[in-house]
Amino acid sequence: MPSLSTELTRRLGIRHPVVQGGMHHVGLAPLAGAVSRAGALGIITALSLRSPELLRDEIGKARSIAGADAPVGVNLTLLPTLVPPNYQAYADVCVEERVPVIETAGHIQGLEPFVRLFKSKGAVIVHKCTQVRHARSAAKLGVDMISIDGFECAGHPGEADVGNWVLAPQAARELDVPFIVSGGVATGSQLAAALALGACGVNMGTRFMATTEAPIHDNVKRAIVQGGADSTVLVMRTMRNTTWSRARCTERCSRRRATWSGASGAPASAWPSSTTSCPCRSSSRGWWPRPWRSSPRSWRGWW
Ligand SMILES: Cc1cc2nc3c(=O)[nH]c(=O)nc-3n(C[C@H](O)[C@H](O)[C@H](O)COP(=O)(O)O)c2cc1C
Repeated sequence: MPSLSTELTRRLGIRHPVVQGGMHHVGLAPLAGAVSRAGALGIITALSLRSPELLRDEIGKARSIAGADAPVGVNLTLLPTLVPPNYQAYADVCVEERVPVIETAGHIQGLEPFVRLFKSKGAVIVHKCTQVRHARSAAKLGVDMISIDGFECAGHPGEADVGNWVLAPQAARELDVPFIVSGGVATGSQLAAALALGACGVNMGTRFMATTEAPIHDNVKRAIVQGGADSTVLVMRTMRNTTWSRARCTERCSRRRATWSGASGAPASAWPSSTTSCPCRSSSRGWWPRPWRSSPRSWRGWW
């Protein structure tokens, strides 16, 4: 297959300008290894492994799938939590294992020591954020590349709601470091558009969930593939911790949509649009659809 040479492929030593972004509980060795073996960059999500030692094992497994010449990256997401994970221990494993590409994400507070650590070992740092001003701050800290997450992105799109058509040209104008476009990308034409907007590649998440290697239930994969443009909902917006969920409610919500009368007796036509919170979350049964994994046990910890 012919490959495109961009700043991303050259810096990362990959054949295709495509990154599989970190995905909690999804970005594990089988997926990351397969993506890297195919010539893009596969990324293991560090915090999905319950301990740093398990991360080490996962890196080994991904490498054995990817092959000796294909780099495998690790995502380190810095989250504001009451009981923070031992980020340092996870970072140390990345350094000891000589992980060549680190995708950082989440809060910029606390990022600096990790940037210094990874840079001192020669790793390429791709920092993911949702606004260009955050990207500028990360670039000042010394990250090598930005993955700019438009409002289209799954995971946490932030609260600014700026889509990639606006965000990418702004990034091209205002950033001194190379950037890739993240969010809503699934096709070659979208990759071409990202390159035309000044990016050196794309980051994809949801598209990689619909693969054989993604450890999620087939029904979820089917829902993603069959979902339409309006099959995405936002959750946790009211908590200013917005999360996209693709095809999240597809089946049950479409059944409910037919009969929904809303909490206050609103007509079915008042069903929230795809850019408002899903009413399912206010279900009297407390039902929150969590489709990423097949069993309720493995859903634990997702939120
Ligand atoms: C199930 C899922 C879990 C995710 N978990 C993380 C995460 O832990 N850390 C992170 O930085 N990004 C996470 N993301 C965001 C992805 O890395 C990527 O930026 C996003 O999916 C790109 O948008 P797309 O899904 O429209 O391609 C997650 C995305 C999905 C779909």
